[in-house]
Amino acid sequence: MAKRHLITCALPYANGPVHIGHIAGCFLPSDIYNRYLRMQGKDVLFVCGTDEHGVPITLKAKNEGKTPQQVVDENYEIISKALKDFGIAFDTFSRTTNELHHETAQDFFKTLYDKGVFIEETTEQFYDEDAKQFLADRYIVGTCPNCSYDNAYGDQCEQCGRASSPSELINPKSALTGNIPILKETKNWYLPLDKIQDEFLNDWVSSMKSRWKSSVYGQCNSWLQEGLQPRAMTRDLDWGVKVPIEGADGKVMYVWFDAPIGYITATKEAAGVDWKKWWHDSDTELTHFLGKDNIVFHTIIFPAMLYAHGNFILPTNVPANEFLNLEGDKISTSRNHAIWLHEYLKDFPGKTDELRYALTSILPETKDADFTWKDFQAKVNNELVAILGNFVNRVVVLTHKYYGGVVPEGSLTCDTTEIKNNIDTALEKFNQRAGLEHFIELSRTGNKFLQDSEPWKLIKDDTNKQVVADCIYTCIQIVKEIGEYAQIFLPNTSNNILNLLNIKEYNDFVKVSHQIGNPTLLFEKIEDSTIEFQTEKLKKPALPDTEEKSNPFKPMIQYDDFTKLDIRVATIKSAEKVKKADRLLHITLDVGEETREVVSGIAEHYNPEDIIGKQVTYLANLAPRKLRGIESSGMILMAEDADGKLKFVAPEDTTASGSIIA
Ligand code: 2FM
Ligand code: ZN
Repeated sequence: MAKRHLITCALPYANGPVHIGHIAGCFLPSDIYNRYLRMQGKDVLFVCGTDEHGVPITLKAKNEGKTPQQVVDENYEIISKALKDFGIAFDTFSRTTNELHHETAQDFFKTLYDKGVFIEETTEQFYDEDAKQFLADRYIVGTCPNCSYDNAYGDQCEQCGRASSPSELINPKSALTGNIPILKETKNWYLPLDKIQDEFLNDWVSSMKSRWKSSVYGQCNSWLQEGLQPRAMTRDLDWGVKVPIEGADGKVMYVWFDAPIGYITATKEAAGVDWKKWWHDSDTELTHFLGKDNIVFHTIIFPAMLYAHGNFILPTNVPANEFLNLEGDKISTSRNHAIWLHEYLKDFPGKTDELRYALTSILPETKDADFTWKDFQAKVNNELVAILGNFVNRVVVLTHKYYGGVVPEGSLTCDTTEIKNNIDTALEKFNQRAGLEHFIELSRTGNKFLQDSEPWKLIKDDTNKQVVADCIYTCIQIVKEIGEYAQIFLPNTSNNILNLLNIKEYNDFVKVSHQIGNPTLLFEKIEDSTIEFQTEKLKKPALPDTEEKSNPFKPMIQYDDFTKLDIRVATIKSAEKVKKADRLLHITLDVGEETREVVSGIAEHYNPEDIIGKQVTYLANLAPRKLRGIESSGMILMAEDADGKLKFVAPEDTTASGSIIA
């Protein structure tokens, strides 16, 4: 049994406000776990903060003509206020631009350096000659070698989630100028993940198999199966934590090196000199909450850093969630297809628990989930108002009506122990959706008990006096239990129930003869017009200050450059899915005098059987490359709309296969 619990929630980038995707991904799950453990009387520390380094922030600053510091200052204010107002109960919400953080990250780096952990290596890195700077991974975009998505970043493909390095990208370009970067020598410090894999990660990760979610273990394991490579922990950039060693001028730490150390910084902020027990004592249980795109960093890279440093505990669990969609579509900041937390709080004052409830009920625990405003309305009206609110209100009203608001002498005639055990068991296993269902079951059971007992009929006959008293006494205790468990899921409601019951805290029973408070409604119905307004709002165009850009035109080329491309009409002869690759189709093309095999990342847009015989535009002289063991020759060119939907580009009428497009 752990003596204490350290809970971390992935640090949001301070390049924009947070939206419901972030909330469902990790803020809410971590907060629920935090509240649950505290309710159990456990010693808990719950930390987070903003991740204020990294290229997305410098890119955003550049786009807006601000300094990176201005960008992070503005967003820190918005994010920290919104999370606080939403009731996410961090012990501390730190920032990675804090001096303490820079010191902490530098100490950590220095220890690894002094222990001789890093490999020092001079390599050729991409360099943009016009921008006169080395291009960090995020400054390079190109085609993903895994799924062929053509706007993948140098460090990670946002379509398939694969983390990679810029040199693996096909057709890399500078995100700053659109130039094709040149290679230039520079020295960097690498974490030998290959060595750490053999020494430690393989065994440690396998020992977690039965504990971690299968999706988390699976992703982590597939990385290990592929074999880890040394990874640079320094970058040629000027925004970040300076590398504290000689010969590293002009270099900062890789953002994924300093960001998780932010958890340690935040602990120091919260616990002062006591911070060490949270990170060095094996009696501490460390749980990292995050979204699925962060799994590799928390199950491989950060543990490798902690191991290499020595003396640190390792995470016990990493309950990563999948993604949340919105109205059937991916959340997108550029299309403003998002519900921003700070805007929700403005539009729905006093209704934090309504959003907490609706989001908890659809947490993407095992697969991606979808938030719709209609469902939000239904959850509030049919569950919070009609079940929970209704039960609590009836009990308070009846207590006033029959007993002037004084708790009658009675005994318990409805047992809710099993429901409470079910809530606990679900939460212990990170099944928070199920936990919420059991929680609402308390109110459902209370309602049914009241309905079946019919005290309003019994009260008419004096001989039933005790049965009525037992019923109301029992219902009051159930209301108290709802309030008690609401501390985990619905903190405002929990406080409101304290007021309704006129008690200071949730302990044992609400006593006989105690005077309860006056009835007030816990929830109100959400009107159709409110939902219509919000749905319309989603259709409005993007805000000017969002982080992603539209597709800028590429730099000029000469006619000669164009004539190098051999573009043809081709006809699809056969197509099949590539095993274990959700996005890939293996296609055979008729290109006139010969056939060609192409692996194309379009499986989410077309069924193989529907495309046989279709004509497409084919780039015939692109150098072949292997995808999932299949050699892919050339490329089928696709049109991509603003929603990311891919469509074939075909001649107006059927044209002979192999016809030249020029
Ligand atoms: O993906 C992200 O939003 C990162 N800022 C998460 C960082 S988590 C941690 F390691 F700091
Ligand atoms: Zn990809």
